[in-house]
Amino acid sequence: MKLFIDTAIYDEIQEINQWGVLDGVTTNPSLVKKSKENFEDLIKKIAQEVQGPVSAEVPSGSCEDMVKEGRRLSQLSDHVVIKIPMTEEGLKATAILTRENIPVNMTLIFSPSQALLAARAGATYVSPFIGRLDDISTNGMDLIASISKIFKLHGIGAEIIAASIRHPMHVVEAALNGADIATVPYKVFKQMLNHPLTDQGLESFNKDWNMYLKGE
Ligand code: E4P
Repeated sequence: MKLFIDTAIYDEIQEINQWGVLDGVTTNPSLVKKSKENFEDLIKKIAQEVQGPVSAEVPSGSCEDMVKEGRRLSQLSDHVVIKIPMTEEGLKATAILTRENIPVNMTLIFSPSQALLAARAGATYVSPFIGRLDDISTNGMDLIASISKIFKLHGIGAEIIAASIRHPMHVVEAALNGADIATVPYKVFKQMLNHPLTDQGLESFNKDWNMYLKGE
């Protein structure tokens, strides 16, 4: 399973990219707002850094407006993926952009039927939101499992991005349930890295190594 980072904060992207684990980036209007940067400049800068798919979201609106904005954003970099919300207009816009070879990530997916529609409209990526389902006492991971089963059964090529990830076990479970990609917040990347036994092990190895060097 590939790993994207779910943030628009450039420093966070750069830091995790240096780990060598990053395949792409997803942003959304709320994340871009937090960055306080110019949207177009930010997307160009991120694409240059990561050299992989960068989802830039168009505001929900008419098919015509979303297509126009999608075409414009796709000019920013070859790595730009247009993120389009799961609406009727969004499906129409996805079909048009896909025919023009502009990749689309359909977002705000909360059911297998929505994922199927997104894939049939031509989306390169579908983004089911796990955490937001868990938040309303529904098992988000079941959605990943169902979409994965449907796509495999019918040879559907759209890639499943497990989104709205809240903690490391979401990442692990998404991988076990067939997600192609998990888009992981910066904080969760850090949580994935840390383990108390690693810290303990390091401490004792360092202590023993220093004693060995001193001939103790
Ligand atoms: C997905 O691409 C979205 O940007 C994101 O995962 C939403 O997560 P949230 O539910 O934490 O806002």
